[in-house]
Amino acid sequence: MRVIVEKDKEGVSRRAAQFVANLVRRRPTCVLGLATGSTPLGMYAELIRMHREEGLDFSRVVTFNLDEYVGLSGSHPQSYRHFMQQSLFDHINIDPRDTHVPDGRALDFENYCEQYERLIAEEGGIDLQVLGIGSDGHIAFNEPGSSLGSRTRLKTLTEETVRDNARFFGSEKEVPRLAITMGVGTILESRQCLLLAAGDSKARAIRDTIEGPITAQVTASALQLHRDVIAVLDEEAARLLERRAYYREVEQAQAALQAGQLGKFGMPTS
Ligand code: F6R
Repeated sequence: MRVIVEKDKEGVSRRAAQFVANLVRRRPTCVLGLATGSTPLGMYAELIRMHREEGLDFSRVVTFNLDEYVGLSGSHPQSYRHFMQQSLFDHINIDPRDTHVPDGRALDFENYCEQYERLIAEEGGIDLQVLGIGSDGHIAFNEPGSSLGSRTRLKTLTEETVRDNARFFGSEKEVPRLAITMGVGTILESRQCLLLAAGDSKARAIRDTIEGPITAQVTASALQLHRDVIAVLDEEAARLLERRAYYREVEQAQAALQAGQLGKFGMPTS
């Protein structure tokens, strides 16, 4: 896993937006996997700025969101569909028909979840999946104990997640207890994953994810099995990582290689 540590949350947002924008420029028909929650908000704001000021073109991009609360329609102010419209889709030139967020009011969930997986496959799979992480180490709504091979399905939220998300609803009582979510297995099939985390409340989950054992108790740790994951963290979220100095060295080496400074690695330079 590539680990990038930025000074603060703003740095995480800018760096993450660069990864997304580079892909959109390189591959205008790319398929993006998107997350909700507070972590990617700054990244979405930066992408909107890039669209307005630099002409970043989303007209042929397709998106799939990770999850949605069961019982909420897309117009509910706390639904993830509504969140995505407000935070990104309404401000860029994406075709609304190409934005997919699971339907929290689907009647036949089993069929609907299979259909969501089929749709992802029909679009050629996800090129870049953006991920936040729960304080219990979940990705999407794959709570501790979720199968690491799981697919899109219904999931019961843990008390910890309900508590964490109550800030968006006003009270814990109003937070839905069920969500429809891509599975860990679905996420692992994305070509590249971009894991974002900021703040001290994520430090333990990040340590367990990156340096702990692979376990269904911390579903994000399954990302260790993926061949192309970039974790972009702020200092606080990276606080408990033991190998921080090494991750910094890797980034410096990478930058030197990109700048063609081969002499640094004992290679002839002319
Ligand atoms: C949201 C999602 C969740 C969040 C996670 C962190 O689509 O899949 O896994 O990424 O709960 O939420 P925040 O960013 O609000 O701390």
